[in-house]
Amino acid sequence: MILQDEAAAARLGAALAQAAKPGDVITLSGPLGVGKTALARGVIAALGHDGEVPSPSFSIVQPYEDLDPPVWHVDLYRIENPSEIEELGLDSAADAILLVEWPERAGAGIWPDALRLSLEFGQNGDRNLTAQVPPAWVGRWPPR
Ligand SMILES: Nc1ncnc2c1ncn2[C@@H]1O[C@H](COP(=O)(O)OP(=O)(O)OP(=O)(O)O)[C@@H](O)[C@H]1O
Ligand SMILES: [Mg+2]
Repeated sequence: MILQDEAAAARLGAALAQAAKPGDVITLSGPLGVGKTALARGVIAALGHDGEVPSPSFSIVQPYEDLDPPVWHVDLYRIENPSEIEELGLDSAADAILLVEWPERAGAGIWPDALRLSLEFGQNGDRNLTAQVPPAWVGRWPPR
């Protein structure tokens, strides 16, 4: 799927927000600056958050508890060892939608039911998105 610009990422995020259910995990992979946060921002804004959506690169976990369902926006870039993941308390997000940038930092095998989205840089400043769709997301991806 081609995402022409940041507005297209926001639209896809909004569609994902409609498709997602409490407890869902959506991972966002791809190189620095490819647009992972832009997609997360689309989800969070579409659920009614009307403030800023800062990149959680430093906070690592940014919860949006006021949304229905709540969203936890997570950026694992600064995690150096998968064992650090346990300290983040992500288990308490069971009824939230978990959006995870840099999921590779958590090691393999975590979040087996996650919708795994990967972004890469396209030719003309656009972005190319591919999805690994688990059984739980069949019929929900691509969202409309
Ligand atoms: N689909 C898109 N097409 C073109 N530009 C985009 C798109 N999505 C985001 N951008 C632009 O790319 C830049 C980086 O976006 P963003 O911060 O979302 O990347 P990121 O993948 O979250 O980076 P990081 O790895 O640092 O967290 C921003 O300037 C944003 O406007
Ligand atoms: Mg980011």
